[in-house]
Amino acid sequence: MIKRSIVIAAVCLMLGISNSTAQKFEGIAQTPQMGWNSWNKFACDINEELIRDIADAMVEKGIAAAGYEYINLDDCWHAPERDADGFIQCDPVRFPSGIKALADYVHERGLKLGIYSDAGTHTCGGRLGSLGHEYQDALQYARWGVDYLKYDWCSTDNINAKGAYTLMSNALRAAGRPILFSMCEWGTAKPWEWAQDIAHSWRTTGDIWCSFDQILDHGSWKAWSVMHILDMNADLRDYAGPGHWNDPDMLEVGNGLTQSEDRAHFTMWCMLSAPLILGNDIRNISDETLAIILNKRVIAIDQDELGVQGYRFLDEGDFEVWLKPLKGGDWAFCLLNRSTEPIEYTIDWERFNWTDESVSKLSTDFSNTRYNIENLWKEGKAAKEGTTKRSKEVVVPAHDVVLYRLSPITK
Ligand code: GLA
Repeated sequence: MIKRSIVIAAVCLMLGISNSTAQKFEGIAQTPQMGWNSWNKFACDINEELIRDIADAMVEKGIAAAGYEYINLDDCWHAPERDADGFIQCDPVRFPSGIKALADYVHERGLKLGIYSDAGTHTCGGRLGSLGHEYQDALQYARWGVDYLKYDWCSTDNINAKGAYTLMSNALRAAGRPILFSMCEWGTAKPWEWAQDIAHSWRTTGDIWCSFDQILDHGSWKAWSVMHILDMNADLRDYAGPGHWNDPDMLEVGNGLTQSEDRAHFTMWCMLSAPLILGNDIRNISDETLAIILNKRVIAIDQDELGVQGYRFLDEGDFEVWLKPLKGGDWAFCLLNRSTEPIEYTIDWERFNWTDESVSKLSTDFSNTRYNIENLWKEGKAAKEGTTKRSKEVVVPAHDVVLYRLSPITK
């Protein structure tokens, strides 16, 4: 019976037969979602105690107060079999209290719970996928009180991506609980071109790994570094906006990069208006890492209400300058040094006069407007770095960024 429904669903998806339009839940992820996910640090080694401890740490360390809201189970929470009626179950050994109890625990702390499934027969970790059970799975998540679904793309031979994601989007809608729908199709079928009404975010690339600029070749697939993923997202800014974000994958901040690299990684994800999903062990987070992920002025660049993804204005190989329009005429101005030596640079502001024709239509105007310069990685008085009246000399350390918020003096 179960097998037959999988076969029917697979044939429908191969033929592209499914409700061809989706109407996802609106009003979710008006700014990029923020939270934590188990995969980057723990992979399949997860259980309910870990997740409860993570929820406690989110609150105790001020991470929740900074805006990180979702706690997301990734792969491997599943039991090996569905129940007699075909409903998905959690692993009874790792999650003996059940997902509903875990959701209650997370909700009591003012947070939300996310879960993970896959559009194919099996997840990437070999657990049961949702193919043929989409509506049942959506219903189960809604009953459990789940708030977020990451939906992966393993074991999907001959399945049409748009059809599969539309099907699950409609299933979530039918289940009735507002659930953020996070597509994880790795960018293969260019979801940015068609998923705006289907999902709240879509992965744009294969998996990240904890490296600043090296590829990890697994043979049949590659894991990408922070800089590779940045490059793959640079040209996708036209597709992102409130409620529908490019997702360059979860953060590796706190997982072993240098402090400069962590700062650059976090900053560039903010410049990309990316979902900020932590992937480290926040129970044992260092003060240095906390200072990065809790920098509210940097988070505000990511969470800016306009929701406009940043633009790579200058690309000189190892040296880049990115601009991001912000609410109220402000701009984020970010210098990135990809090299292993510090770079000295003189900012001749008028060179950065620019109109964002394709997305916001906003312009910088360094010829007629003077801006206050705030260095967002410095604190207090040290953060005030004068105005754009004169050119500015800056040193960008190796594998690091300098990030300014520019505010027009006469608005
Ligand atoms: C894929 C996804 C990852 C993670 C794993 C889990 O590789 O892209 O983010 O969810 O599956 O198996």
